[in-house]
Amino acid sequence: TAKSNTVAQAAGKKYFGSATDNPEFTDAAYLAILSDNTYFGQITPGNSMKWDATEPEQGTFTFSGGDAVVSLAQGNSQLVRGHNCVWYNQLPSWVTSGSWTNATLTAAVQNHCSTLVSHYKGDIYSWDIINEPFNDDGTWRSDVFYNTMGTYFVDVALIAARAADPNAKLYINDYNIEGTGAKATAMMNLVSNLKSRGIPIDGIGLQGHFIVGEVPTTIQTVMEQFVALGVEVAITELDIRMTLPETDALLEQQKTDYQNVITACNAVAGCVGVTIWDYTDKYSWVPSTFSGQGAACPWDANLIKKPAYDGIIAGF
Ligand code: XIL
Repeated sequence: TAKSNTVAQAAGKKYFGSATDNPEFTDAAYLAILSDNTYFGQITPGNSMKWDATEPEQGTFTFSGGDAVVSLAQGNSQLVRGHNCVWYNQLPSWVTSGSWTNATLTAAVQNHCSTLVSHYKGDIYSWDIINEPFNDDGTWRSDVFYNTMGTYFVDVALIAARAADPNAKLYINDYNIEGTGAKATAMMNLVSNLKSRGIPIDGIGLQGHFIVGEVPTTIQTVMEQFVALGVEVAITELDIRMTLPETDALLEQQKTDYQNVITACNAVAGCVGVTIWDYTDKYSWVPSTFSGQGAACPWDANLIKKPAYDGIIAGF
């Protein structure tokens, strides 16, 4: 049977990849498939490069989890997407409950991004420097960064990251920007604004956490619109969940949905690759986050390929 990264690269993409997480590395059967670079040419750490994992106390950095992901990927000749520098979630309490001024938080963001991206200099294809900055209505998310620094936190993080690793592609990553609408428009306006001011931005990540039967029909259009602004795009966290229990009909619709996402990326030259948010239902974040939902990945919990896998192959 055809292999997902092989077909992606044959179609001109840089990679087909998967998220993973360090606790999963003790599962030999899981690791064998993850490490097969004919399936996955790229890996994203699902948690171990986040702020709470990498700078749990101010100025004290711990890179062991992220290093393990990078060394696994390098051993398998796989690319790495760094995830992430600045996000409202999974922050250590010193960030969320610090008493910040614009100046002190600027210094903290600068130091975090600079130290994190420097540590992995040369190891990372692309970095999600900013994750999930917008609300669904396109307004800025109210978090410690925006509330203290306004939109300036985006500039600070991107500039620090560029200086730290000039060869890494710097991304802003979000969900619900995969179809036309207020949130996608807000992201396009941000890209235009950054570009007009010379702030470094190379890519936009469309997370792609979808529901079976609800993949936006305008996904290709949106990707073309981003690319027209002079950035690349990637599907960075694809999974397509369903209300459990799974049925044959739902699995068939899921196959069609996966195929449609891949087809859209395939049709846009500036869409560089697709990453699934772990490849197996065994380790998906979905059931613990969306009550009653699951079965979102292309491999089932026994590491057996589902119809969705054939949809991916058909899409490339
Ligand atoms: C998720 C991880 O997969 C989970 O293990 C963790 O408990 C919560 O975060 N959008 C993102 C990712 O950008 O970082 C999130 O990852 C999923 C949603």
